[in-house]
Amino acid sequence: MDNRIVTVDSRDWTSPKAGLVPDLEAGRVLFFPELRFELAPDEQKLLRPDVRDEKSRNISLRNDGVLAGAALQGEEAARLAAMIGRFRTQASALIDAIAPAYKPALRLAPTSYRPTQVESRVQSWRADDRRLHVDAFPSRPNRGERILRVFTNLNPNGEPRVWRVGEAFEDIARRFVPRAKPYVAWQAQVLKTLHVTKSLRTEYDHLMLQLHDGMKGDPDYQRSSPQVEMPFPPGSTWVCYSDQTSHAVMSGQFMMEQTLHLPAQAQVDPQASPLAILERQTGRRLT
Ligand code: SIN
Ligand code: FE
Repeated sequence: MDNRIVTVDSRDWTSPKAGLVPDLEAGRVLFFPELRFELAPDEQKLLRPDVRDEKSRNISLRNDGVLAGAALQGEEAARLAAMIGRFRTQASALIDAIAPAYKPALRLAPTSYRPTQVESRVQSWRADDRRLHVDAFPSRPNRGERILRVFTNLNPNGEPRVWRVGEAFEDIARRFVPRAKPYVAWQAQVLKTLHVTKSLRTEYDHLMLQLHDGMKGDPDYQRSSPQVEMPFPPGSTWVCYSDQTSHAVMSGQFMMEQTLHLPAQAQVDPQASPLAILERQTGRRLT
């Protein structure tokens, strides 16, 4: 397996970072070991799991400034929202610094803060992110739109966030596309009518879910496919296209995450996108 992780020596979020887009668009992880998200002393107090409402998986800050999933009130809730909002600003500045050409086409998703210990989560195999996968969401079809993510480890006890990073998307597709169930247009229509999906699940969305489930549901693949273990230390930041980079999270606690969406056509090289790769492999239009 070629190197799936590219280390970048930078300590600031905003200065231009030229030359990284080809690696990013090839599905590599850009790893910034020294790019720290600084917390104020009174923000350190928010590094505890009970700031999360038990009914929510994560805490998130929406674009309109509304905080969701937190179990805090008043001044503490405002402090948490401000902390997450600052990460939102820095994460978008980082993407602008890496890929200035994306700027007019980017759409920011809510920002999330994950204070829960990864090892303690109990989940079905399909929701279990400790298994290698590419991101694809059953209820949210995206027609090939990209999922670009910025992560930072905030752990105050020196614990890394440990990922596994797997093989390149072309290799995943070569292995799992031939095993995929066929797309059935009328079923996609029914899912939309019943509001199981927020919009029509295209053949692209169907195939991405088949890759996601095919990977997670195959214990042999989880064990034996090409992969590297990567401990992201506290004070480090990493960026990848999570719909393309095969990843699994094995352990860790206290992380911030920002998702940005980009139409595949707005990439520097649209031919490197999962949509283009899947269309080449299947020989047909998928959206
Ligand atoms: C994921 O996107 O699979 C989870 C990543 C993480 O929580 O570190
Ligand atoms: Fe994921």
